[in-house]
Amino acid sequence: MVKFALVAALLALLVSPLAVSASLPAPNVELTAGFPDSPFGNVVNGQRNKLVVSFSNKDTVSYTVSILSGVLVNPNNFTQIVRNLTALRYDTPIGTGETVDIPFSFHSEIAPQDLGLVVLVDFLDTNGNSHRAVGFNSTVTIVDPPTSIFDLQLLFLYVVLAGVLGGIGYLIQQAFFGGAAKGKKKAKKVVEPSIGAAGAVDEKTTAYDESWIPDGHIKKSPVRQSPRLRNKKQ
Ligand SMILES: *[C@@H]1O[C@H](CO)[C@@H](O)[C@H](O)[C@H]1NC(C)=O
Ligand SMILES: *[C@@H]1O[C@H](CO)[C@@H](O)[C@H](O)[C@H]1NC(C)=O
Ligand SMILES: *[C@@H]1O[C@H](CO)[C@@H](O)[C@H](O)[C@H]1NC(C)=O
Repeated sequence: MVKFALVAALLALLVSPLAVSASLPAPNVELTAGFPDSPFGNVVNGQRNKLVVSFSNKDTVSYTVSILSGVLVNPNNFTQIVRNLTALRYDTPIGTGETVDIPFSFHSEIAPQDLGLVVLVDFLDTNGNSHRAVGFNSTVTIVDPPTSIFDLQLLFLYVVLAGVLGGIGYLIQQAFFGGAAKGKKKAKKVVEPSIGAAGAVDEKTTAYDESWIPDGHIKKSPVRQSPRLRNKKQ
């Protein structure tokens, strides 16, 4: 009786793992993951965080990755979900012996803190049976974007504002000072001939002036007139 019980126990021990493996043929796949764009593996708020899951198919059959889903969880209790991440659909076949990188991008808007990140990979075998493997399961640090990016954004804002103000300033200048400048030019045009007469154009104008003004006055008067005109202008 004891022998029979021992044999039965041994049989049970031998059969049970076989039975489990027969009912659930665990796919021979290896998954690793990392954040290629984030050297410290931090999750940055307000930005696209790209986790890349490397799926190695070491099995004798091919698989097709169908869904990647993720949750941010309490780092002290991974069953407590803090945030659900948007699940992404794929239709990525991974043949025998192949390793394929699958990107999983997600956004985070959560107070900076340490949280657990669990990313699950659903994949189908050739019979359409769904399997699930853990793509990533570790604690990550949620951080706000670095201040330098805020500075760059502020700088950009200043440049844009400066451009807008500059544009408005130009329009105002065109509307008001542009007109005033024209007025000044007109005023100059009125005054210029008399100044010119006192200077360079003197020789040419003398021909006309001689007909009705005595020579002595013509030569002296421009010299005297120019200071008067300058005073009037000022
Ligand atoms: C972990 O969280 C789950 C769900 O919120 C809760 O039922 C369980 O008691 C927690 N475990 C510990 C150790 O805090
Ligand atoms: C996450 O999703 C599960 C089911 O999809 C839901 O039960 C749970 O309330 C969600 N948790 C949060 C924090 O949104
Ligand atoms: C993730 O890791 C934690 C321990 O770090 C473990 O309790 C949990 O079961 C793991 N989750 C999955 C889906 O493997």
